[in-house]
Amino acid sequence: MRCKRYQMWEAVSCGADLLIPLSRPSITEAERAAVLEVLDSGQLANGPRALTFADRVALRAGGDPWGGVATSSGTAALALALKVLRIPAGSEIITSAYGFCATPAVIEHHECRPVFVDCLRSGLIDPDAVRRAVTRSTSSVLGADLYGSLCDWHRIREVVPPSVQLIADSCEALGAERDGGAIMTHPVDAATFGHFPNKQICAAEGGVLLVRDIGVAERARCLTSHGRDGVRVVEPGFNYRMSELHAALGLAQLDRFQELQQRRSEIAHWYTAHLPACVRPLPTDPGRSWFVYVVTCDRPAVEVVRELEARGVQARRYFPPLTYEPAWCHVREAFPMAAHLGTHAVALPFFPDLTTDQQRAVIEALAEVVADGRPGSSAA
Ligand SMILES: Cc1ncc(COP(=O)(O)O)c(C=O)c1O
Repeated sequence: MRCKRYQMWEAVSCGADLLIPLSRPSITEAERAAVLEVLDSGQLANGPRALTFADRVALRAGGDPWGGVATSSGTAALALALKVLRIPAGSEIITSAYGFCATPAVIEHHECRPVFVDCLRSGLIDPDAVRRAVTRSTSSVLGADLYGSLCDWHRIREVVPPSVQLIADSCEALGAERDGGAIMTHPVDAATFGHFPNKQICAAEGGVLLVRDIGVAERARCLTSHGRDGVRVVEPGFNYRMSELHAALGLAQLDRFQELQQRRSEIAHWYTAHLPACVRPLPTDPGRSWFVYVVTCDRPAVEVVRELEARGVQARRYFPPLTYEPAWCHVREAFPMAAHLGTHAVALPFFPDLTTDQQRAVIEALAEVVADGRPGSSAA
């Protein structure tokens, strides 16, 4: 009998029969050499690379390098953001009903109440829904810059009181711009980035928190390493450190940022030009930093994913609606757009080294799947 841990791994892995994975990091000799250099150096943690990685992510995000703090994951960066911005426990944090589970999870862990609101067709949080959700207990808005597109933070700033802090979960959006500016040129108090292997910049695991105040960043840096200021434990902290191995990998990837984005963008445009007629890409914007390629069609996403995988193409519902998950199914309100995207949005294989032959195979499989489900529908 298989143990539960193995079953969990099996549920999230792509399986041996899948020919085309959903995602795969692009690793070259440069990344290998960078990681080996760390192994040979003997300094695997608490070194200069994590600091440099945070500086470089800060610069790419339009922020001050002094405000960047490297962390062990995007989720750790989010948790740290709530802590160092001193979001009061028991307060309400407005967030989208559509997105990744880490976003509302950190709100719960901070002992705040996630107040879910609906999203726009793009999947990004709807500023008008944010406006309607504000109460006297609202401390902050935690919106996710999903799929490499930035939320309309200027509009969100306009519709909430000045005391409400804005936190951008930009874990999917390193390199994204809106109105010509990267995230830290927008009126957010903090932004977080994630560097899981599928992200624009892979560090295997890792994250970065960006804040505006250097003192706040200093405290965040201290908290990532047990609350030590170098000599003493000045407050109870965490181990949220990024290792030097992860930082070295991330730095080598940052050197290739343009090349990796160029490739992702070419793949996205090729997909868009070749989609079956009844399959639609999600709306995009010129400042997008390509991360995933998500489509909707009339068939339910669960069926599309199952049938693509039966044809050797890995796909994912992206994302299932958060309030359908057991963790949040007690939330009674309806979120029509989140429900629509959650039941119809499917992520297709998308990574820099995806070949044109693989893309053709994805489109052929997709055309078969949508034609199967809707007799007579166009799948040219
Ligand atoms: C929107 C969003 N927020 C948070 C996270 C969490 O990042 P990590 O997996 O690095 O903890 C992710 C990662 O997939 C994400 O996509």
